[in-house]
Amino acid sequence: LLALLHLFLAPPRCQAAAMDLLPRRLAWSLMGDTVHSAVDLLPTFVAFAAPGGPAAAWRGACFAENEAVLSLTPGPRGSNSTAAGLGGAVLRLKTASAQSWTCMDLYVFATPYRIGWDYYTRAHQHTFEIKSWEEAGEMEYVKLHGVAIFLMPSGMLGTLLSLIDVIPLFSNTIWGQDANLAFLQKHMGASFNKRSQPWAANIRKEDVHSGDFLALSKIRGRWGGFQTLEKWVTGAFAGHTAVCLKDENGTLWVAESGYENKKRVKKSLL
Ligand SMILES: *[C@@H]1O[C@H](CO)[C@@H](O)[C@H](O)[C@H]1NC(C)=O
Ligand SMILES: *[C@@H]1O[C@H](CO)[C@@H](O)[C@H](O)[C@H]1NC(C)=O
Repeated sequence: LLALLHLFLAPPRCQAAAMDLLPRRLAWSLMGDTVHSAVDLLPTFVAFAAPGGPAAAWRGACFAENEAVLSLTPGPRGSNSTAAGLGGAVLRLKTASAQSWTCMDLYVFATPYRIGWDYYTRAHQHTFEIKSWEEAGEMEYVKLHGVAIFLMPSGMLGTLLSLIDVIPLFSNTIWGQDANLAFLQKHMGASFNKRSQPWAANIRKEDVHSGDFLALSKIRGRWGGFQTLEKWVTGAFAGHTAVCLKDENGTLWVAESGYENKKRVKKSLL
């Protein structure tokens, strides 16, 4: 099971795998029973923890009082040209007021570039560390929005089943793609119609007008899984939007929102 988890999350980001606490046979049977009906239990979005912002606070299933603060950590001194030179971040969490001695809260921490998780059984201070940003785009995203924190449904079993639901969303395989489509259909009422061939469309410049709106949606890989959770949290169906503009000379421009371009290019010429 762990090997599978590592496959899904390559490069692996799991801080602590709750799964390895389970007897192997139980873990496999859980996996076997749920793997194909993968979208029944959902994590709850609780907060974005952004650097410099106020502490994010929420009520958990086990701990009634929780707080998280994110601080950026500088990269090693000297070169800043590599991703490692960008630094990372530390998420500091405080859990308090446990409902019982045996309960735990399990969290998923996500940016569009990674997913990690940790679980807490004690009222205490905890840290979740992002050693280095995957690339400048991830740092920009986190500076702007923060790290998204999701709480898994309460109870050991619920937690495990729920994790199994969410992990396939991030898998860069046809299985991951199907998991994303199933998630959007089931939980957001989205419908998908397969295009007839050819799948590539040529759009003529003359047919595009100022104000034409492009909505894009990723349904596969780490970005796809993150966008799916983001859509579900915000209720939006588009992961990324752009608008077409023509200037006085009839030159077509596409103005994009977003953070995916390394250089945050706002306009591109078609
Ligand atoms: C890298 O360092 C140079 C010079 O100190 C600075 O101008 C530049 O903005 C830095 N780049 C990043 C991505 O932080
Ligand atoms: C449109 O074309 C004219 C003449 O070539 C040029 O001077 C002007 O800067 C152009 N406008 C834009 C928005 O590019």
